[in-house]
Amino acid sequence: MKVVFLGPPGAGKGTQAVDLAREFGIAHISTGDMLRSEIKAGTELGKLAQSYIDDGNLVPDEVAVDIIRHRLEKDDARNGYILDGFPRTVPQAEMLEKMLDEMGTALDRAIYLEASEPVIIARLSGRRICRECGKIYHIENMPSRSAGICDLCGGELYQRPDDQEDAIRQRLRVYKEKTADLIQWYYDKNLLTRVDADILREDTYKELSELFKELQ
Ligand code: AP5
Repeated sequence: MKVVFLGPPGAGKGTQAVDLAREFGIAHISTGDMLRSEIKAGTELGKLAQSYIDDGNLVPDEVAVDIIRHRLEKDDARNGYILDGFPRTVPQAEMLEKMLDEMGTALDRAIYLEASEPVIIARLSGRRICRECGKIYHIENMPSRSAGICDLCGGELYQRPDDQEDAIRQRLRVYKEKTADLIQWYYDKNLLTRVDADILREDTYKELSELFKELQ
């Protein structure tokens, strides 16, 4: 099963993808998570990516495509995957299509998690993430049992620099300018499915899980 998650920042792509990947035994591949790991490790790639990410802009297409190319070659991608945050532009989608074609395969579905702007802003400004294991929380919707501490590993929870108000607004601008066109692009290829992501997390999950069962 090879699926792409589309949708604005804060729609819940990462939250849903983690649980779906576990339930269906496939890989969750997030370009945002991979870039943040590079930043944490202080690599050259991390240094290059940091200013783009912190300001709410996209890293260059070639950088994102290169990361994905290497990631898809890993063993755990053989069973299938959810691509979360990639592709982000039409050129990235075209390069992905070509890359998969060369590997003798193709995407099964592009799933668009639809969420409205007020919901997105409330979700992003309240999001907290574990510094150690990456688990995603929300100070109101999905709080940790003990404030500021991860339930799973006891790590410290932090706010992503790009979840500050100015960066959120820039990410939404970038999404509308560069990423929203992908919805039409996948629709034209007959690959698009829309899912309501404005609702309770569990209700969106149920819809996604049914869809994944059909794709299996
Ligand atoms: P990335 O990490 O991909 O960020 P994003 O797409 O902006 O998505 P988010 O992680 O912000 O949102 P999400 O939809 O995953 O929401 P989440 O599940 O966390 O990318 C970051 C940056 O990396 C980019 O800006 C760019 O610079 C760079 N980058 C990455 N990929 C790239 C690419 N391909 N090309 C170029 N640059 C790239 O949920 C949000 C919050 O809401 C959480 O607190 C969660 O608990 C809560 N929540 C989720 N669902 C619900 C619900 N149903 N009800 C209530 N609360 C909910």
